[in-house]
Parts: sequence; structure tokens; C-alpha cells
Amino acid sequence: MSSALRTRPVGILGTGICLPEKVLTNKDLEKMVDTSDEWIRTRTGIVERRIADPDTPTSVLAEKAARMALKNARIKAEDIGLIIVATVTPDMIFPATACLVQNRLGAISAAAFDLEAGCSGFIYGLVSGAQFVASGVYDYVLVIGAETLSRIVNWEDRNTCVLFGDGAGAVVIGPVPNGYGLLGIDLGSDGSGADLLDVPGGGSLNPATKYTVENKMHFLRMNGNEVFKFAVRIIGDSSIRALMSAGLKKEEIDFLIPHQANIRIIQAAVKRLKLSNDKVYVNLDRYGNTSAASVPIALHEAYEEGLIKKDSIIVLVAFGAGLTWGAAVIRWYE
Ligand code: UT7
Repeated sequence: MSSALRTRPVGILGTGICLPEKVLTNKDLEKMVDTSDEWIRTRTGIVERRIADPDTPTSVLAEKAARMALKNARIKAEDIGLIIVATVTPDMIFPATACLVQNRLGAISAAAFDLEAGCSGFIYGLVSGAQFVASGVYDYVLVIGAETLSRIVNWEDRNTCVLFGDGAGAVVIGPVPNGYGLLGIDLGSDGSGADLLDVPGGGSLNPATKYTVENKMHFLRMNGNEVFKFAVRIIGDSSIRALMSAGLKKEEIDFLIPHQANIRIIQAAVKRLKLSNDKVYVNLDRYGNTSAASVPIALHEAYEEGLIKKDSIIVLVAFGAGLTWGAAVIRWYE
């Protein structure tokens, strides 16, 4: 067990998701930018993605996913001590989206904050929330990854607009018996890669002006090739470091839940970890890259499909803007 988690064991007690109904297919994108279904499928594995209605902000997706997670965990909103929303698409710069969710859930005992660690945000949130449960400060923490990336994607940029989708995933974490729950973690960052994936406008560096709008500085920009190289390396390395901190070997993995960015990146992880394809969850064909929401959505679906059972050793792993990365090893308890 990693030293950061030595006090009381912390596990996932329930999961939930919310995916907007509207589906945007590769064929639809062919009518919007110079792309093809064939290019998107072969280079990324994505077939379609979900897009939130214009009147649905991130907090609404987060709230719905949280309600499902609470129900599945059989925990009342008023028993939650802390809500963490991991997102790069908050409703507003402030207040925190987590506070909006806290209010709507009626989580009257909960502290609330947002966490921004790009697509690794959910894993950062899970590990952060676990510290509060492990130390006994709170019994139950809601960790939510929620995004409306469609709001910050440049729909004229074929290099990026085909990749992303909207959605939310949530978990309730709390105490579990000895030997279960989070066994090992790995978190890291490399800010020298900050400009590889960013939204440069709207913050204190480039506040919103006519210039920032005209120069599309409020849209997501990405150096896809560099992020790809980083991702292929880090997804295996981070998983292995988390396993080492848990005192486990890669042969002991029952199931891998990777960030859903690109099927070729996932295949690199499968190769590095010497896993068979039936031990890795993939849903990016249906949802694209939902950033901080991708891991909890995949976790929920894998659990609902019966692929994760009591005692399963699962590895969650993600990478993203920052640059950041994170992995968590869990022995599943239910
Ligand atoms: O959550 C973390 C964030 N992001 C990621 O994980 C993304 C990591 N990167 C990737 O997944 C890949 O680098 C991409 C999918 C973004 C790009 O795939 P690639 O195989 O690295 O393609 P490329 O960027 O090298 O582009 C190859 C060609 C280029 O044309 P030329 O210059 O060779 O004529 C691009 O302009 O493909 C072109 N291209 C497209 N063509 C059709 C780029 N996007 C598209 C498109 N449709 N949507």
C-alpha cells in the first residue's frame, strides 16, 4: 500500500454517468470540416460522440451523474463531506462548478471545489478525495469528472473537433475493509509541455477582448503529434509506477480502464502492460474523448457490464493537458 493511503482503506462505493442524448457521427462531421469517417476511425477509433444541448452546462451533466452514483452507493446527498468536480469546462471561471452541484444535490454538509488537471482530472480528484476519507476527515466524498468540450472546440479545426465529446461520470468513495480500495497511485506533471494543449484566452494572461475572440483564443488548441508521443510513453509508465506502489506486478491486473483519447494510444498501453484485449475497456468509439469524464464513464460501463467484480484488480490511468498524468490501482469491493 502506498504511504499516502496508509490510514484507513478507501474504495469506490458507487458509480454514475450522464451522457447527452444528441449524437454527432463522423458522417455528420464530414459535412462540417474536410474529414472522412475512414480517417477518423483509422487514426483515432472514434465513430461518434455526444453533444450537450446549448442550455445544458457542465454542472447539469455533473449533477445527473452524481445522483446516479449516490443512488448506486446507497448514500444520501446530505452525508457527503466533500464534492470535487474535475473539469476543464466549468460553467464559469468562478464560482466553482462543484458549488453549483452541491446546491442542486442538497449536499448540505459538503465542502466543494473544482480541480483542473486536464484529462487526468478525475484521477487527481479520486486520489485527492481519498486523502480526506483515509484520514477520517470525511466519510464520503463525491468525485465527478464532467465536461462540455463542445463549447471550447473550434468546429472549423479538423485537427481537434473530431476528437472530443461531452459527458460526465461520478463516483462516491468511502471506507472499505482492509485490503480493498485504492492500493497504489502515481501522479505527475510536466509544465514544460503546457503549450501542447491549451485554451489561451479568457484567463488572466489573455483576458477576453475583441482581439482574443477574433484570433480564436477561447478555443482548444493542440499539438496532436507531441501529445500522442507523450501519451504512448506515459500511459504504460504511470500504470507500472502505480502498480509498484501497490506492491503488484502487471500480470496481476484484471482490468485496465484507460483515458479514452485514441485507440492507438490504448493499444500502446495494452502492449506495454502485456495485457490481452479483453482486459481493457474501450468506449471511445461511442463517446470520443470526454477529457476528465472519460475514465469514470468507462469505469461505470465496465462495472455495469459485469467486467469488474469483487476482488478485481483494476488500473485507472489518464494523461492530459498540463501536461499531467495519473494512475490508480484499486482492489474492487462491493
Ligand atoms: O486527452 C488528451 C488529448 N489529446 C490526445 O490524446 C490526442 C493525441 N494525438 C492524437 O490522437 C493524434 O495525434 C491525432 C488523432 C490528433 C492525429 O493523428 P496523427 O496520426 O498523429 O495525424 P497527423 O496529425 O500526423 O496528421 C496526418 C494528416 C495531416 O495531413 P498532411 O499534413 O499529412 O497532409 C493532417 O492535416 O492527417 C490530416 N488530418 C486530418 N485529415 C482528415 C488531421 N486531422 C484530420 C481529420 N480528417 N480530422
